[in-house]
Amino acid sequence: MCGIVGSVSSKTNIISILLDGLKTLEYRGYDSAGISYIKDGNLIINKVKGRVKDLEDNIKKESNVTIGIAHTRWATHGKVNETNAHPHNVGNVTIVHNGIIENFSKLKHKLKEKGYEFKSQSDTEIAAGLLDYYYKKYKNIDKTIQKFIKKVDGSYAICMLLNNDPDTIYVIKKDSPLIIGKGENINFIASDVPAILKYTKKYYILEDYEYGKITCNNITIYDKDGNVLKKDLKEYQGSDLSSDKGIYEHYMLKEILEQPSTIRKTVNPYINNIQDLLKLPDLTKYERIDIIACGTAMHAGLAAKYLFEQYSNTKCEVSLASEYRYQNNFLNNKVLSIFISQSGETADTLAALKKVKEAKCDTLGIVNVKESSIARTLDKVLYTEAGTEIAVASTKAYTSQVALLSVLALSNAYRKNLIKEEKINKILEEFRSVSSILNSLLESTNTYEKIAKEIYQKSDIFYIGRTIDYALAMEGSLKLKEISYIHSEAYAAGELKHGTISLITENTPVFASATDKHINAKTISNLKEVISRGAKCYLITDEDIKEDNIKVIKIKKVSMFIKPLLTIIPYQLIAYYTAKLKGCDIDKPRNLAKSVTVE
Ligand code: F6R
Repeated sequence: MCGIVGSVSSKTNIISILLDGLKTLEYRGYDSAGISYIKDGNLIINKVKGRVKDLEDNIKKESNVTIGIAHTRWATHGKVNETNAHPHNVGNVTIVHNGIIENFSKLKHKLKEKGYEFKSQSDTEIAAGLLDYYYKKYKNIDKTIQKFIKKVDGSYAICMLLNNDPDTIYVIKKDSPLIIGKGENINFIASDVPAILKYTKKYYILEDYEYGKITCNNITIYDKDGNVLKKDLKEYQGSDLSSDKGIYEHYMLKEILEQPSTIRKTVNPYINNIQDLLKLPDLTKYERIDIIACGTAMHAGLAAKYLFEQYSNTKCEVSLASEYRYQNNFLNNKVLSIFISQSGETADTLAALKKVKEAKCDTLGIVNVKESSIARTLDKVLYTEAGTEIAVASTKAYTSQVALLSVLALSNAYRKNLIKEEKINKILEEFRSVSSILNSLLESTNTYEKIAKEIYQKSDIFYIGRTIDYALAMEGSLKLKEISYIHSEAYAAGELKHGTISLITENTPVFASATDKHINAKTISNLKEVISRGAKCYLITDEDIKEDNIKVIKIKKVSMFIKPLLTIIPYQLIAYYTAKLKGCDIDKPRNLAKSVTVE
């Protein structure tokens, strides 16, 4: 997490460039923000606890600044306050950092023995101390950085200024993303390309253990032994640079409403006819599919598990990347590992992917951000076309992931001769009409607002479902808790009575979806069990169900390959309106960040 931006120019004032960059990168963390620049030979550091706009108020009038680095923080070490905010200066060295220095306690101890004193609880200040120590010792910046790379464990993207070298920004990278943008008489550094797109589309990607020296008209990149590298200059190809909220009060609402078009755009290449469907990779040689991801992306995997197993008769295991990376994974060449990620930068997902690559097994990705670290590491990538997702709570990226996995499962079922051509054509037809089907569901705003009013003052809410509806319950529950701060739990409907039902009391809200006709009756029975204990129930279903004490939200009857895309819409909008009633910061919920680049 954390966003880094830097720039060095021959004469352009770079303050607004750094502030623009930080605003774009705020999705990576927004606990505090800071900037450091050298002006007339003096190093200036300005930090605030809070958002980039607070920093902007402090420094927007600053002029004639041609070199600087800046940071927006998601706290890992030390409380959210100004002292722990970046940049950190020790002696001659000032740095901003994204990542975690894992051996920082040991390094801190050693540096203290050498006479260093530290003001913050941040691991970054220790990294600055170590760089200063080596720089004083070797009086040579290459040797300093090479030694630093050898001594430091953990992850880091570092951008550094030296007091006695006011024309150069230094960068070092391991396991956290960093790019260097190339302009005319001006160059840039950023955690992510969008932060500098206003100024250049050309950039270099730094790989692990590489470091660089950047002046206004020169970029040199080295390997860890100091050999100069010849790197490819990339050109950003994406088109969706818009991060405009338009008429909407929140990005989250805008992104929810964009889903008819983002889903359609994602599956468009595969749904015109069966030939198109067969453009998707052939998975029939695999005996098992492993899906590995985090959070909402993992929930998309759980929905896909049902489709792969039920319709294409392929065993599918879904794992949280943070667990998978430390488990025995039973890999062989009959296993395909599918990695799902919106950002393409999630540290645990990337580490799990590297583990599968080391085992030399096949990998496929469902990724939203092109050229991201995960996309670059995969054997094969299928891109979701959700566009930039700004709201921290994922909505349109999730449905694009589910849609893409769904057509993949459908193509697998067809290749294995498990679904007749006629049926496939009908499902493809439904995919082609997905926009209009979703639009009518999205328009039922009154229903969602009314339910939000009924639940926004509750402290515990339950989400239940069976098979694919359980996967949807998990995502519905996550949406509610992350943006409204109401505690909620998702449970397999049949499991409640094995313990959790003790938490159901008078008027406890329980949400369920019942969209799998073979087991809907069982879920309804589970709802009746909680109604008997006082629960207030809401049911999303495509069946004609009329039951006392169950409020039904009806969705259209469509194939199971499309249904999860419908079921999630009421859950997303109920979470949104509930958070709005509570006055929460919907697009930037507390303690969260959009891109989780630490483990
Ligand atoms: C929740 C949410 C997170 C992400 C998770 C993985 O709304 O967005 O749970 O899904 O952090 O992120 P990506 O997909 O970028 O790998």
